Amino acid sequence: MLFAIDDKEKEIFNKVSTAAAELGYPCYVVGGYVRDRIINRPCQDLDIVCVGDGIKLANHFAQQLQPAPRVVIYRRFGTAMLRYKKIEIEFVGARKESYRYHSRKPIVENGTLEDDQFRRDFTINALAISLNKEDFGEIIDPFNGLMHLSEKIIKTPLEPGKTFSDDPLRMMRAIRFSAQLDFDIGENTLYAISKFKNRINIVSKERVTTELQKIIDSPIPSVGFHHLKDTGLLEIIFPEMQALLGVDIRNGISHKDNFYHTLEVLDNVARKSTNHWLRWAAILHDIAKPPTKRFNRKAGWTFHGHDALGAVMVPKIFKRMRLPLDHKMKYVQKLVRLHLRPISLTKETITDSALRRLIFDAGEELDDLMALCEADITSKNPNRVQRYLDNYKLVRRRLEEIEEKDRLRNWEPPISGEIIMKTFDIKPSRDVGTIKLAIREAILDGVIPNKYDAAFQLMLEEGKKLGLRPIQSTS
Ligand code: CTP
Repeated sequence: MLFAIDDKEKEIFNKVSTAAAELGYPCYVVGGYVRDRIINRPCQDLDIVCVGDGIKLANHFAQQLQPAPRVVIYRRFGTAMLRYKKIEIEFVGARKESYRYHSRKPIVENGTLEDDQFRRDFTINALAISLNKEDFGEIIDPFNGLMHLSEKIIKTPLEPGKTFSDDPLRMMRAIRFSAQLDFDIGENTLYAISKFKNRINIVSKERVTTELQKIIDSPIPSVGFHHLKDTGLLEIIFPEMQALLGVDIRNGISHKDNFYHTLEVLDNVARKSTNHWLRWAAILHDIAKPPTKRFNRKAGWTFHGHDALGAVMVPKIFKRMRLPLDHKMKYVQKLVRLHLRPISLTKETITDSALRRLIFDAGEELDDLMALCEADITSKNPNRVQRYLDNYKLVRRRLEEIEEKDRLRNWEPPISGEIIMKTFDIKPSRDVGTIKLAIREAILDGVIPNKYDAAFQLMLEEGKKLGLRPIQSTS
């Protein structure tokens, strides 16, 4: 079958073809580019395999372009990369790989195109397009990759146990592609993942996390998480999330299954936003439910403090998964810590003070927090869902009113620690914190206005209670 080459590709493919012919190398486009083009997915990176020296071919090709692009050479991998017309083109010699049991780093030898296709992870990733004169544009498809693309199924070219045992990262990749492309995973392929799941331990945490992040970024992330759970990979790579699974019943009272609930919240958030870290907040919002679960004869199942403990768990999970420990982690932590606050507002008569506190505590993250809370409504009862949504609408309206009036987002109280220390001539100490807190609380509670003079006065009063005296006349 011939590949439908478009105009932009025609120029590049012809030039690569000529360069390869001049060196006497058979040459092909391979891998993800071919897959994505056939299913009309956007693709940037073009991988070229030649039966010969990939670095030589890259240099020879580059010399024919005006101006000649810079060729970046990775000698250790025998590859070379250049950028032409916004496309990254990578060149490599066809190879044959054999693996040792304790490593996912293969022993590499030169090989034929067939060897190269054999070493690839999935049939849909093992397609090649010929750039040779005799069959230019022909799709070479030794493992029915085209059929599997149209059937939307992921299968390995070899016996799946061998493919996964050779390179266990491919178990994560299978699940990632299934989530990204909305493909099924072949039965034998899926079974082999369950069988070889423990081999994931020889893969670096960074690589596992990169695949997990791609699953999280996919259109319906729960697709990937269901596979992770069913194959047993989840238990190994993310035990805290696995622990959400299951329902306890006592005295005929059960609680909801927090694993499936979390997936619903995640999908709800994913429908509204592509924000990766908001998706993490959805995954982690109830992560401390298992360790805080108690049964109480009157109240039934309770999870008191799961918001606070969840916030404590976030950095630990991020650290283990090699996720960034910067402001992104802090953002997730904040949403986890605050995720019950808007709900509690809907349950009581909403006071200005409670709203002010939420605006102050959530700061820039207030809108995302509200989005998370709305996604957290997973009741099957449409009336109840509507009631909760209406409550949140009211909370949002009241928040806007207060925000308009008080401008509390990213607010700093009018009296700083510096001023307190200068006024009483004291060093940084607990007293400074006590006074600052009293001022902040009084403003948030509406006891004093958000004004310098009123705050200054309160500072003097609070200082007096602590036995402090101002060093100069102040009013
Ligand atoms: N490959 C493989 N086993 C891996 C990684 C990659 O067999 N563990 C092969 C596949 O043929 C894949 C190609 O190398 O198509 C390129 O890999 P990569 O760029 O990681 O993946 P893509 O398929 O291009 O997809 P994406 O860019 O979405 O990661």
